[in-house]
Amino acid sequence: MTDSTLTRRTFMGLLSALPFMGLPGQAAQQRKGRFRESRTGDRYYVDGYFFEDLRTFPLKPRPKRGGQSAYFLAGNKTMEAHVSEIPPGQGKRAHRHVNEAIVAVISGRGYSEIWTHEGGKKHRYEWKEGSLLPIPLNAYHQHFNTDPERPARYLAITNVPFMLMLFGTEAFIYNNDFEFPELWEDFFSTKQKNLGGRNWKVQFVEDMRTFPLTKREFRSDASAKFHVGTRTIGPHISQIPPGTSKPAHHHINEAYIYIVSGKGYTRMYEREGGPEQRYEWQEGSLMSVPLDYYHQHVNTDPEKPALYLAVTNTVLMYDMIGSELVHHGDVGRRYET
Ligand SMILES: [Fe+2]
Ligand SMILES: [Fe+2]
Repeated sequence: MTDSTLTRRTFMGLLSALPFMGLPGQAAQQRKGRFRESRTGDRYYVDGYFFEDLRTFPLKPRPKRGGQSAYFLAGNKTMEAHVSEIPPGQGKRAHRHVNEAIVAVISGRGYSEIWTHEGGKKHRYEWKEGSLLPIPLNAYHQHFNTDPERPARYLAITNVPFMLMLFGTEAFIYNNDFEFPELWEDFFSTKQKNLGGRNWKVQFVEDMRTFPLTKREFRSDASAKFHVGTRTIGPHISQIPPGTSKPAHHHINEAYIYIVSGKGYTRMYEREGGPEQRYEWQEGSLMSVPLDYYHQHVNTDPEKPALYLAVTNTVLMYDMIGSELVHHGDVGRRYET
């Protein structure tokens, strides 16, 4: 047994002993109970790992914030995903929270304002379908739909479950005056800057569909990774060329995958040779990749590339255990279709 195998086994043993981070398979039920117990308020929860089309997914009113929404309970332990809809010509209520959030616009057009303290400068971001907007920790924000006729929808992926693990109460997240001046300064100081290769520091991405991508041979894709000042979750986008697949792989991080454009399917399985789930996706689909699950994304369109947004907790996991352990199970260039 090599040192790294030993380390990995020890680590996986530790993980399986933790109630909040059980191995996939056992994990979903634990998450539901623990997570729901900590949540209060008027949220509408939906169970599952795959949602075919968030553009048309039925939502329910959320009176506290305005508009309608649905919260997805899936295999992820440290992140949650929810869809919100803003009625034509209206805005949601301004609010702030001590949790990280990445917002991706599913449909419609409008703008968001972000400011750090009462009376402070409001930073304004005009968005449309395909925009990506990270929300800095505990900064005030408010979303407006400027279309007088059509609703606007967005997907928000947050680290609320992780924050609830740490602090156990929503009051810490939603009723907290703590300020993060260094983090805010860092976030607002640079609009967009390439950090080398596919890595970009960004405040806002106007359209993920046209963002410049960097080719990655070992992943058989072209990608951009966005650094947005977060410490647990982070977004990247990946484009799969027409009629090709990415290599099957697994990693010790969780992921939500949102299909920005294209059509295809994803194979998902807990262990090699084990039973497979196959999710047929299209623009608007959302899936959850639980910790250490194998997955392989396949673009079935012979002419058009497919583009997805992944929000993962690698920022946290790289800090905790290092990228080498996170990617212990990558199978490199191997194609399985
Ligand atoms: Fe928010
Ligand atoms: Fe992956």
